[in-house]
Amino acid sequence: MGKSITHKIIEKHLVSGEMVPGKEVGLRIDQTLTQDATGTMAWLQFEAIGIGEVRTDLSVSYVDHNTLQMGFRNPDDHRYLRTVAAKSGAVFSPAGTGICHQLHLENFAKPGATLIGSDSHTPTAGGIGSMAMGAGGLSVALAMAGEAYFIPMPKVVKVQLTGELTGWAAGKDVILELLRRLTVKGGVGKVFEYAGPGVAALSVPDRATITNMGAELGATTSIFPSDDKTKDFLEKMGRGGDWIELVADEDAEYDEVIEINLSELEPLVAQPHMPDQVCKVADLAGKKIDQVAIGSCTNSSYSDLKNTAQILSGKQTPAETDLLISPGSKQVMKMLSREGLIEPLLDAGARLLECSCGPCIGMGGSPTTAGVSVRTFNRNFEGRSGTLDGQVYLASAQTAARLALDGEFTDPATWGPAPERVTLPEDVPSIRDLFVFPPEDKAAVEILRGPNIVALEDFEELPSTVTAKVLLKVEDNITTDHILPAGAQITALRSNIPAISEYIFSRVDADFVARMKEHGTGVILGGENYGQGSSREHAALGPRHLGVKAVIVKSLARIHRANLVNFGILPLLLVNPADYDKLTQGDELTIPASEMTPGGTIEITTASGETVAVTNDLTKKELEIIQAGGLLNAVRQNQS
Ligand code: F3S
Repeated sequence: MGKSITHKIIEKHLVSGEMVPGKEVGLRIDQTLTQDATGTMAWLQFEAIGIGEVRTDLSVSYVDHNTLQMGFRNPDDHRYLRTVAAKSGAVFSPAGTGICHQLHLENFAKPGATLIGSDSHTPTAGGIGSMAMGAGGLSVALAMAGEAYFIPMPKVVKVQLTGELTGWAAGKDVILELLRRLTVKGGVGKVFEYAGPGVAALSVPDRATITNMGAELGATTSIFPSDDKTKDFLEKMGRGGDWIELVADEDAEYDEVIEINLSELEPLVAQPHMPDQVCKVADLAGKKIDQVAIGSCTNSSYSDLKNTAQILSGKQTPAETDLLISPGSKQVMKMLSREGLIEPLLDAGARLLECSCGPCIGMGGSPTTAGVSVRTFNRNFEGRSGTLDGQVYLASAQTAARLALDGEFTDPATWGPAPERVTLPEDVPSIRDLFVFPPEDKAAVEILRGPNIVALEDFEELPSTVTAKVLLKVEDNITTDHILPAGAQITALRSNIPAISEYIFSRVDADFVARMKEHGTGVILGGENYGQGSSREHAALGPRHLGVKAVIVKSLARIHRANLVNFGILPLLLVNPADYDKLTQGDELTIPASEMTPGGTIEITTASGETVAVTNDLTKKELEIIQAGGLLNAVRQNQS
């Protein structure tokens, strides 16, 4: 039987397990990436493992989230990241160089390589055929230490592309169409592998936009073949030597097949507050727009911004529409500048921001109260923009730029001719010298820490019986933004767990932290898809610090589930989802944790004698990790 690209890469990197969907496989990891918001903790964890230098082919530490220097915390973290990278043999990318995924795609990602990153949009590198997955920071720390990365063997979905994009439709509309069809839960446990004649018609930036936002499907990752387009991209990036051809066998078998005719796509938009609330742009005609933000790891490439400049050139946005543009990297910025494309942006009224995540995580550029913001980003969860009642819509760069001129949603049929499809110039400028490569003499490097960098605490083992109260009951679709909000003030505390834990569920229930402190231990009760959204492991670490022993839910999002395991919190699944209604906040529960077996069912009893059956989807190893009090404890136990 022929093999898919996914099977080829997994087979080559398999260190344990069987390639049977759902069964755990251990993979050798070639590359890792970290970003400052989650990576500062990942590096503290790497240090705690105590092996000295990274054992991957390449590890890169990017600073792109908290780049604004508000007080000492961010600059202290950046200095720590620079020095710990130098000491450990990793590459460091300073603040302002660009967004991790855009930079990694341009400078380091390789077809056929495995990559894990402490950021959920790591699959961006799948645009050039990398098997790139978002992971918890601890998993990344362990991969840097040479340990395998474990995942359930994914199902492989073939996305058969035919036709080609026409008019104003863009790569973003491909993934919005998939989100419309499959929803934010539709990709769990799956790799989306793109194939068919339509692939050749998509540029690498379009492919990267699609694999980037495959994360919103809940997918393990998404991947494109490595073909002539990939080769051309890598050659222009000065990395022709990194190219290999990587395509699925003609007779490859897939678990599912989905077809998309690119020629039929038209501009789409995701409405507040979920990336799968997708409709046609035309359906919203007449709705006023207060802000447009172009950038993020999804749509900040040279072609996105050149298209933007072409659309805006010689025109101006209305005074009531705020336009923000953040290029994805200094390389993108240099190309725009060289071609005289910055001036049309400025003249149109755009505010040019630093090459960083910026407004994507509410780091500046928040919309007005109840303001409508059209963004080229990947997420529009409530409050993520920094404005709790902000109405965030997600669209392609060319749609966003065109709408910025109108100051309201308009029908694309009235937009006139679309801008030409952009290809990279022959002489792409290099920014390689802006990265800090590790020195020969690592012993001489001193790791510099500031007062905000607090070493990781030791967590105790899971008791054989957990007795704790339900201290929070929440609804379906709780995101990691609900658990720990983003924003400058909070993320600046990322390397200080006691301080950041004060914000756990602060926007959902302001008294939760006080209740946890009063009781010392607690359980969270949730609905479907608990923990969807970003990979931020602080959304598990914070609750663990506060004493949360278990979450009992109807279903769990993949990366958050992994983070709960890594930090020793029991992820329990209600056998009968209707039992959610039987339990209320304040109920005291007895959980016979020592009776748990992988996939087995146990009965939880409440103080009033009521029983509720819960199960788990844990492997034997994951259960042992939780019993040891978390992955760091388990690794240390194994080492000793
Ligand atoms: Fe940054 Fe937003 Fe991407 S925070 S890494 S631009 S999802």
